[in-house]
Amino acid sequence: MALRFPQAWLDELRERADIVEVVSRYVTLNQKGGRYWGLCPFHGEKTASFTVNPQRQMYYCFGCHASGSAINFVMEMEHLEFREAVTLLAQQLHMELPQMVAGREDTVSRSAKERLYEANRQCARFFHAQLWKKENANVLSYLYGRGLDDGAIRIFGLGSTPARGDGATQALREMGFTDDELVSAGISVRREGRVYDMFRQRAIFPIIDAQGRVLGFGGRALGEAKPKYLNTGDTPVFNKRQGVFAANLLKKQRGLKRVILVEGYMDVVALVQAGVPGVCATLGTALTLEQARLLKRYAPEIWVAYDGDAAGQHAILRALDIFDEEGVRARVLDFPGGMDPDEYVRAYGPQGMEQLTPMEAPAYRMKQEMAGHDLTSQEGRTAYAIACAKHLAKVKEPVELENYLQQLMVATGFTREVLLAQIGRTELIPQQKRSVYRHAARPLEEKNDGVDFETSAAEKKLIALLAEGRVEAGAVSEEDFITPERRELARKLLSGMSPGAILEEMEDDEARARAASIMQRESDADAEQELRMVGDCLRVLSRKRIEQKIAELTQQAAGLKGEEKRKALLRIQELTRERQTAGRKE
Ligand code: UTP
Ligand code: MN
Repeated sequence: MALRFPQAWLDELRERADIVEVVSRYVTLNQKGGRYWGLCPFHGEKTASFTVNPQRQMYYCFGCHASGSAINFVMEMEHLEFREAVTLLAQQLHMELPQMVAGREDTVSRSAKERLYEANRQCARFFHAQLWKKENANVLSYLYGRGLDDGAIRIFGLGSTPARGDGATQALREMGFTDDELVSAGISVRREGRVYDMFRQRAIFPIIDAQGRVLGFGGRALGEAKPKYLNTGDTPVFNKRQGVFAANLLKKQRGLKRVILVEGYMDVVALVQAGVPGVCATLGTALTLEQARLLKRYAPEIWVAYDGDAAGQHAILRALDIFDEEGVRARVLDFPGGMDPDEYVRAYGPQGMEQLTPMEAPAYRMKQEMAGHDLTSQEGRTAYAIACAKHLAKVKEPVELENYLQQLMVATGFTREVLLAQIGRTELIPQQKRSVYRHAARPLEEKNDGVDFETSAAEKKLIALLAEGRVEAGAVSEEDFITPERRELARKLLSGMSPGAILEEMEDDEARARAASIMQRESDADAEQELRMVGDCLRVLSRKRIEQKIAELTQQAAGLKGEEKRKALLRIQELTRERQTAGRKE
């Protein structure tokens, strides 16, 4: 079990680290009412939508929904782990670092997850050790044959499956992991009551996150076996839509000017071996918003370097859209002759990489459009101009736009006035305030929380009032809440945690953003009005809980007979009466 900072010491650090002061080191803040406003450091913007609330010890951006405590802020800005950020803050506050204590097993699920991480870690070590065994020489020579050297193999902890089809399962059992744990981690599979290794006769690529935890594995077939890569499926600790391969290495490289995003495991390993910094890959899926969000933490821009085949080229366009949507500057590395990055770097070496200049996204899009249109016909040229104009509408800099216009004039024969009109401008200078970042402000993804609007609104209002810290003690309890997510928030707020500290504990970005957007709400109501609001919300919720019970009982009653059924119906009657009074004001 991992060591942690003692809770009381952390609480003291949180008290002493003034979030306004911490954020002010990076962002110019202006006070307005109870909070401070500034330009969000996590997405590009021209008008302030980033807020810091000292009383709640939290920050929240209305544009990109970044949120958290002072510690989270330092983690994000400095690319630090929780522990490193805390250490840095402690130094700045001249607080002595305490003795670490054994982690509290606060929730079953947390320790169950840690067991899975540990199983994965041990499994990765096991696979790596297998690689050097005589009986697995075919795997090692496969990797050598792909041009990898021992250095790269060690950096990535590459491995081999064991000779026996249940070797990993057996080894991990001996370390004390149960079959259920191994199946849950995706290391083993259960078939007809027997448990085997998930990966057989494959070279192994461990997938490690920024915190250094092993999330799962990719296994490359040695020959033509299908699938070419077998990956760990989704498990309690692994979601391939959220992670990237080599996140652990990215994390260690400070001050990257760009991240290079490739398609495959092999591309990453080959480029890293050639000394190219900042390389990573998605995990066998199209780029997701979550991944784009993750990547923008590491560098101000991303170079997309997908395979040269049609699929790769098509995926680039989708990735550019996603980056656009996340407000991330992205360019494209186009390899000559339709090569994969892996092939290219093996043919031309690190110098070859340096000679490549990335294409701007609009230039790349225009190039792709050109391939899709027949420019020898007037029809084709017209369609091409229309398609390109759509892309160029996003170009902000007049000088850049001018370059593209020139190209387009030559390719299509239309005059600049006509092309500008098609783009939607009469001048080079944009009429409306357009920004490449205009997509960055994204709507908060509302989760369907399974309750109706009224319940949802009442719960949110109550949480906001609790976060404000002005609800009388004993007036509200966690049992008043219906949705598990907000019940949990209420429990923590009632236990005295600050909104910032609550956000800090949340691992899921979306859930954290939802919580932050509720807890940042301010009301300008006076104490008496607030008291009334609390009462109103509680009445709504108590009525909703009764309605829920009635619905449940009604369903049950349908399956009952005789005396049982009579009892259930009576209870429903009772509840119906109760509901009427619950809805009324006292
Ligand atoms: P590629 O088929 O382009 O892999 O798939 P690659 O890197 O060129 O493979 P090599 O060079 O032949 O070994 C790109 C990525 O898509 C995922 C993997 O993450 C792979 O690295 N993939 C591909 C799978 O997950 N499963 C597959 O069967 C194939
Ligand atoms: Mn490939």
